Amino acid sequence: MRILVLNGPNLNMLGTREPHIYGATTLADIERAMRDRAAARGVDIDFVQSNHEGVIIDTIQQHQQTIGGIIINPGAFTHYSYAIRDALSAVSVPIIEVHISNVYKREPFRHHSVIAPIATGQIAGLGWRGYLHALDWVLDSTANT
Ligand code: DQA
Repeated sequence: MRILVLNGPNLNMLGTREPHIYGATTLADIERAMRDRAAARGVDIDFVQSNHEGVIIDTIQQHQQTIGGIIINPGAFTHYSYAIRDALSAVSVPIIEVHISNVYKREPFRHHSVIAPIATGQIAGLGWRGYLHALDWVLDSTANT
């Protein structure tokens, strides 16, 4: 099984970007931790970050035949990208929306996700470890069904 892990705009800056909100862990650190966890559980991950909406959509379309789940932190696209939502909607695998910060404690524009209604579930506010929890959930739920 392969899991697609997608990160949207500005998440390449983790580690230096507003560390009081997002922490000191870099995206490379997260990728390493996820690859370790995936290897331990006998699955592969594809790890993609882009600052461009179209690249995120292309990536979803290109991977949709070969993956068993999507873990996505759409960054600010969470709040307004109907195009990413539509691309995700067309895929029939579990989709977990991850946010490092607790978006519900922050500015009002972050309280609304256009992705959440089509996602299987959402993790927000658990820091970078939210990605690992999402991976475990996808693998556990797939094993049990
Ligand atoms: C974020 C929250 C979004 O509101 C923000 O635009 C991000 C990161 C998070 O991981 O907490 O870029 O998705």
